[in-house]
Amino acid sequence: MSSPKEQIRREIEAIRYPKLERTLGSLELIADLSLQDKRLDVVLAIQNEEAFSAIEAEIRARYGDRYQLSVRPRTAKRVAHGTTQNPNNRAPYAQKVIAVSSGKGGVGKTTLSVNLAVALAQQGHRVGLLDADVYGPDVPRMLGLREERLRWSDEDKMIPAENFGVKVMSVGMTTPTEDTPLAWRASVATSALIQFLEDVAWGELDFLVIDMPPGTGDVQLTMAQELPIAAALLVTTPQMASIDDVSRAVRMFEECRVPIAGVVENMSYMVIGDKRHHPFGQGGGALLAGRYDLKLLAQIPLEEAIRNGADEGFPAATNEEVAEPYRQVAAGLLKALG
Ligand SMILES: Nc1ncnc2c1ncn2[C@@H]1O[C@H](COP(=O)(O)OP(=O)(O)O)[C@@H](O)[C@H]1O
Ligand SMILES: [Mg+2]
Repeated sequence: MSSPKEQIRREIEAIRYPKLERTLGSLELIADLSLQDKRLDVVLAIQNEEAFSAIEAEIRARYGDRYQLSVRPRTAKRVAHGTTQNPNNRAPYAQKVIAVSSGKGGVGKTTLSVNLAVALAQQGHRVGLLDADVYGPDVPRMLGLREERLRWSDEDKMIPAENFGVKVMSVGMTTPTEDTPLAWRASVATSALIQFLEDVAWGELDFLVIDMPPGTGDVQLTMAQELPIAAALLVTTPQMASIDDVSRAVRMFEECRVPIAGVVENMSYMVIGDKRHHPFGQGGGALLAGRYDLKLLAQIPLEEAIRNGADEGFPAATNEEVAEPYRQVAAGLLKALG
């Protein structure tokens, strides 16, 4: 016969995750369960607040009368936050932290982050890539890791996924399915990222590349407060609307005293036959670089092979036809870092 604790564990394992056909047991979401006399403690590895509340209510309904019950989420450690002028260092395992940023979505930040990380790994550097775009985690797909789900080590650390020599952590890997929508408050998103910095078994890294979400909000500031960022790269398209947005990002990094290694102009031109076309205009990258006295590290063409590689999980940096501009960015970054 099974003990009461085993019995309860099996019952909780059979509870369904809201709106999914999967159970807590099959998703391995019970982080801890203890029963001592009449005290029942349940720790769930669930970050989504809505899902957590629903499951907590269900556990309460079943055991609240019989036991002195506590149900809580496994949370990131709460430690004093740093400030932008005096950042914490939550990634002492990384020699250099690189932030890839832009003022706008859809300009090619993730594509650049992924290919920069791969290009650095190709040169023999130890590289980690943190997907900080918690609301649009595209990194796993671009690195051919969309099927990866979170694994924990015996030391209770998250094990990063790895492909093309790059270690990867993304909230995309923590959700029960790839298309689970994330409806996090900003505070939850930032504590998840802090947990990715502190509770992931990254090992020693030469570079930790961070793919930032678009804009200049909460996550960007948190990263600037929690990490000494060695260099930021700013991605823009050649068009003026993008330039204005990136200007805000430039000023934010300046205020946070994060050095900017340079500007990368993406979707600069398109080659048709032997002619260059400029569907997104011309000259924006150079203008931005001139205005803020920054280097223009590369102009990346709009290429079907780049888009296709991103969709299929074979990054452009691994394709000789289109790898060159990403190698230029890596070289420019290394030069800026000295
Ligand atoms: N140089 C390029 N040529 C062709 N497609 C590109 C290029 N750069 C990015 N893309 C495509 O544009 C879309 C947006 O890029 P992404 O890197 O996701 O932008 P962001 O992270 O800034 O939102 C993706 O579908 C990507 O494959
Ligand atoms: Mg992105």
